[in-house]
Amino acid sequence: MKLLVIGSGGREHAIASKLNQSPLTEKVYCVPGNPGMALEGIFTADISLTDHEKLMQFAVDHEIEWTIIGPEVPLFNGLADDFHKNGLRVFGPSKAATLIEASKAFAKELMDQQQIPTAAYQVFSDYQDACRYVEKQGAPIVIKADGLASGKGVVVAQTVLEAQIALKEMMQDHKFGQSASQVVIEECLVGEEFSLMAFVNGEEVYPMPISQDHKRLLENDQGPNTGGMGAYSPVPHISASIVDEAIRKILIPAAKGLADSQTPFTGVLYAGIISTDAGPKTIEFNARFGDPETQVVLNRLESDLAQVITDLLEDKKPNINWKKSGVDLGVVVAAKGYPATYAVDIPIHVGQMEETTVYYAGVKEMANALYSNGGRVYLIEAQGSDILDAQRKVYNQLMQLDTKQLVYRKDIGDKAKRR
Ligand code: AMP
Ligand code: GLY
Repeated sequence: MKLLVIGSGGREHAIASKLNQSPLTEKVYCVPGNPGMALEGIFTADISLTDHEKLMQFAVDHEIEWTIIGPEVPLFNGLADDFHKNGLRVFGPSKAATLIEASKAFAKELMDQQQIPTAAYQVFSDYQDACRYVEKQGAPIVIKADGLASGKGVVVAQTVLEAQIALKEMMQDHKFGQSASQVVIEECLVGEEFSLMAFVNGEEVYPMPISQDHKRLLENDQGPNTGGMGAYSPVPHISASIVDEAIRKILIPAAKGLADSQTPFTGVLYAGIISTDAGPKTIEFNARFGDPETQVVLNRLESDLAQVITDLLEDKKPNINWKKSGVDLGVVVAAKGYPATYAVDIPIHVGQMEETTVYYAGVKEMANALYSNGGRVYLIEAQGSDILDAQRKVYNQLMQLDTKQLVYRKDIGDKAKRR
């Protein structure tokens, strides 16, 4: 088979790599992809994610068996719908089903309908009403832009003033444009966070092992929220019974809710969950693989990803096996300044590594060399017998690299050791 992955980040690199390892694949393309992927025989092409006509033409011209869409924006722009309309097979939800990620108000309504546990909330489109509600509720309180904001549209406010500033930035200063013309204000949940992803085909839900992202820029979860600074899987201090409860009470009813409303979900459904004293509660859904969770979770898949997705697209029950022992851990290396204005054109030399794998994200090629051109530049991943072993491999490797103009967290996975 010839397969196509849409996107250009570390997540897409991990998906394309996994597909490229399959005996079923002859060629794997990642469009637009990045030159780091090209180093390992993944084919890339410079087509904009917004040019649906060209992407579809590419799939036709290259005899693509099926396509998988990585990022949320093209899904929300209806790329999967366009592929379907033109008779092209695609693994990824329709625009309508993507609303579970692209509108937090929609997601909350679905959770109400299906009685999915989540934080208590209210939706506001009037700034004054929102401010009054915050004053009445008090802090801590969570303010969320309704629409897509690259993981940056959430403020966990510790004071009423902080909440009001967030509301002003979102609703009056239009910091996230239209994405925050409506906001969701919700109860602040306390507990350990984890990410639960599943392959979903209508009401069929095939969960993956859980993982834990590190959203804040700095050690000990300090600093601003980012797209994610590192992850590991599984998460030893979240018990199997909590995961089971999350699958039963969160993922399965979410898939059912979408199917019931005539917008069945095909693709990867992701639940961001907080394990509270009252059980697991949902903080968000994503309509796609998580980044950087995918870079660690897919390494735990023993089955053939190309076969799994082919089966799902043919409405067959896939055979999915996951590694039962060991840990996968990945640390994101970002350009200094990220997630605000960051340095670009930093020379990137990773080279050959023995115990680790690199997944490239924000890189470009100039005169046959790699340079950074994004906030998150690459991720170093390792499999270990336990957290300590995986950390040792990743951080040993990182210490040998030139990271003077780059930043990374030194504590990815530490939470798993404190328990
Ligand atoms: P999200 O983009 O929805 O994943 O939110 C970003 C981060 O904000 C999450 O990873 C959580 O750490 C935090 N967060 C979101 N919602 C809540 C909530 N209701 N209570 C506490 N923390 C939250
Ligand atoms: N790691 C969080 C996300 O992919 O949205």
